[in-house]
Amino acid sequence: MRITPASPETHDEFYDAAGRFWLPVARSVDVPIGGRRASRLLAEDLVVWRDQDGQVAVLDNLCLHRGTKLSDGTVTAGGNLACPYHGWEYATDGVCVRIPQLAPDTKIPSKARVVSHPVREEYGLIWTYLSGQEEAAADLPVCPDFAAPGWMFHVGTPSDWHCQTTRMLENFLDVAHFGYIHADTFGNPDVLSVVPRSVEVSPDLLHVDAKVPYLARDPWGEPEEGDEFAVVDVEYDYHYDVPFSAWIRGVTKGDEYVLYIAAAPRTVDETTVFWAFGVPERLAVSAEEIELRENAVFQPDRFIVEGQRPEWLPLDLSAELHLRFDSIGLGVRRELKHHGFPVVSMLRP
Ligand code: FES
Ligand SMILES: [Fe+2]
Repeated sequence: MRITPASPETHDEFYDAAGRFWLPVARSVDVPIGGRRASRLLAEDLVVWRDQDGQVAVLDNLCLHRGTKLSDGTVTAGGNLACPYHGWEYATDGVCVRIPQLAPDTKIPSKARVVSHPVREEYGLIWTYLSGQEEAAADLPVCPDFAAPGWMFHVGTPSDWHCQTTRMLENFLDVAHFGYIHADTFGNPDVLSVVPRSVEVSPDLLHVDAKVPYLARDPWGEPEEGDEFAVVDVEYDYHYDVPFSAWIRGVTKGDEYVLYIAAAPRTVDETTVFWAFGVPERLAVSAEEIELRENAVFQPDRFIVEGQRPEWLPLDLSAELHLRFDSIGLGVRRELKHHGFPVVSMLRP
């Protein structure tokens, strides 16, 4: 079986479809007051920065004078972003407000502005959308309980995966692989049949919800006498928001947690995975513990996903073989297709 690359036209179709949604570009903690950093989203280079009043901005990362990266510049005491090459200064709306080489009283040309993108800051993340249309197709994907009293959320260190974002998402929603690749954490090698109890695709094709009961391995619990490892009954609630966000709420023995992901395509085949993990404060789980545990879970997923072929998730439902326990992924594929993500055939016999 030969795999052919997707055409440049389908790249554009993918970017156009994704550009209508709010997507994350940085963690809030990584852009402090006076800070700036480069980000890449849908093959566009962006600079994310924050002025002295705490206002965050997302601009094209390209000084219109000579194409220098603004992310290599500095945020001035006056709250502008100064280009590192000749010091032109931009305000948060992208307007150039100072050209040091011009004589005082010389008017700055009105063309002197870089594209400024809409910004929101929620769930410890900075979000934008790139379509340029006034209204994005959907609102931010909600992180449940993020602001709920008694909950603590750790916004995790983002990681870059070499894969199409849709493949990453489908893996996050796949319930049939726990006992195989997660047997060293929560996966129970004795329970290989995991079937979602209910899968609901919302009528507007923006969400998928599912309930999944599972007898998970408890790597931190004490095994019963004679048992090799401890187990715990879990009820997982899965929620997917088209196109690249999802969360899982796991309820065990009266305790619960939320794992939220908001993945962002840097390009058609590069993904930044932003995530947050929430637990009730009384469980006193530290950020370091959360990073360790979640990275141990993400690592084997990443290994599998980065190797999947074709790289593009096939939205043609006759491609690949779907069984009953794959029904969440089927819902995801239907919704992505409905929202204009390209159906690309990459397999050639
Ligand atoms: S290239 Fe940015 S000021 Fe000249
Ligand atoms: Fe997994």
